[in-house]
Amino acid sequence: YPARDSRPERHSLDVVAHRGASEDAPEHTLAAYRKAIEDGADALECDVRLTADGHLVCVHDRRVNRTSNGRGAVSGLELADLAALDFGSWKGQATDAEAPDRDPDLDRVSPASLPGEADDDHRDRTSVLTLERLLELVADADRRVELAIETKHPTRWAGQVEERLITLLDRFGLARPPKDEPSPVRVMSFSARSLYRVHLAAPGIPTVYLMQFLSPRYRDGRLPAGVGIAGPSIRIVRNNPEFVSRLQRAGNGVHVWTVNEPEDVELCARLGVDAVITNRPKAVLTQLGRR
Ligand code: G3P
Ligand code: CA
Repeated sequence: YPARDSRPERHSLDVVAHRGASEDAPEHTLAAYRKAIEDGADALECDVRLTADGHLVCVHDRRVNRTSNGRGAVSGLELADLAALDFGSWKGQATDAEAPDRDPDLDRVSPASLPGEADDDHRDRTSVLTLERLLELVADADRRVELAIETKHPTRWAGQVEERLITLLDRFGLARPPKDEPSPVRVMSFSARSLYRVHLAAPGIPTVYLMQFLSPRYRDGRLPAGVGIAGPSIRIVRNNPEFVSRLQRAGNGVHVWTVNEPEDVELCARLGVDAVITNRPKAVLTQLGRR
């Protein structure tokens, strides 16, 4: 990280861009992350997977079928295979069942017709994004932007995802944050085992245990060993708002996903959660009076 002011500006509720500003731009592309930074997001969320040749790339699904013009599992493809695919043009098309409506002007730029910067814009919107490139983007930002990295398929690779991740973070000087300063990077996972591996290898990096359902095991607000932040789904929070206070009483942070509706933002703010992870950072920041 450069020597610019690296202390976080503390807000009562941090806004984390889920897969980038993924309502406005194709998820996990450089364009989506640039937009999130421009919009003022406090942090960027990304999912990471290992390619067949050992690169960490930002792709959510096990396979590339939904978000690119290719087919197959990320783990079965090499980085060069992924680099040949278009990860952007699917957005806004009829088959894009999950993505919300968006400005059609942002879709489909023809590289042939657009020289220079437009070529770069096109690449930003369509290229597979490596975690390394995302770390560079964050390092080059003119303000502090945090990263919330989610490990996917951690069991298949038996520790390799975490090992590569820590090695990469080390290269960026992020694996061993100073004790008295909040870490600009955190690792999230639905797998307690994955988080434990990260904790053992780099105990200074905060970890977030993601929860899709409220398991009886964690109902009392305590989290797996080494974890200090809970990541419940908004559905858990809506149905069990008292769970948030239990987590808080147990001394844990609370980061809620995926919070897109104004009433859910309102609920999270009222409950005093620490962060909301959203596809719409601009709208949420506007609602919170921060834009
Ligand atoms: O931020 C946590 C959230 O991203 C977990 O769900 O499926 O979007 O990775 P998913
Ligand atoms: Ca995720």
